[in-house]
Amino acid sequence: MEFFIDTADVAEIKAAHELGILDGVTTNPSLIAKTGKPFKAVVKEICAIVDGPVSAEVVATEKDAILKEGRELAKLAKNVVVKVPLIAEGLKAVKVFSAEGIKTNVTLCFSTNQALLAAKAGATYISPFVGRLDDISQDGMELIDEIKTVYDNYDFATKILVASIRHPIHLKQAALIGAHVATIPFSVFGQLVKHPLTDSGLEKFLADAKKFNWD
Ligand code: E4P
Repeated sequence: MEFFIDTADVAEIKAAHELGILDGVTTNPSLIAKTGKPFKAVVKEICAIVDGPVSAEVVATEKDAILKEGRELAKLAKNVVVKVPLIAEGLKAVKVFSAEGIKTNVTLCFSTNQALLAAKAGATYISPFVGRLDDISQDGMELIDEIKTVYDNYDFATKILVASIRHPIHLKQAALIGAHVATIPFSVFGQLVKHPLTDSGLEKFLADAKKFNWD
């Protein structure tokens, strides 16, 4: 499973990168807005830190305008993935990007049929938002399970990128289903490594280690 970080905060990206297990980055307009910096400058800064895929989202909603923005973003760095909203105009643009060899991440996916359309359009990644579905009392992880079945049924190459992850259980469930990628908020990265029995066990081992010499 690939691990992406879901942030535009360069300090967070550097810290996650130092862990040595970071495969890529996803951003969205809300995350970019939080940085207070110009969009393209942030994307270039992130791409200089991480070699893997960096998703940068278009803000246009009409095919030709999406294509213009996406092509501009794709020129910023070789690892830019153009993030496109799951609307009809977005799918038309994804089809063109796919033919041009520009990688895409189709975002704001909330149904299995939407994911099926994105795969047929040639999306590189599909981003189903599990947390936002849970927020409205629908089962976000059930969507991941269904998309996995459908993509396997037809051997689609589109990768399932589990998004809107809120806690470690989301990650574990996504991994059990066999999702290809999870985009994880920085706070959840911190939670993943922690276990109270690890901390108390280490404390005891270190205390006992004082009772003997190394050599
Ligand atoms: C995905 O690429 C989105 O940036 C993100 O996962 C959305 O998460 P949120 O629902 O916590 O905003």
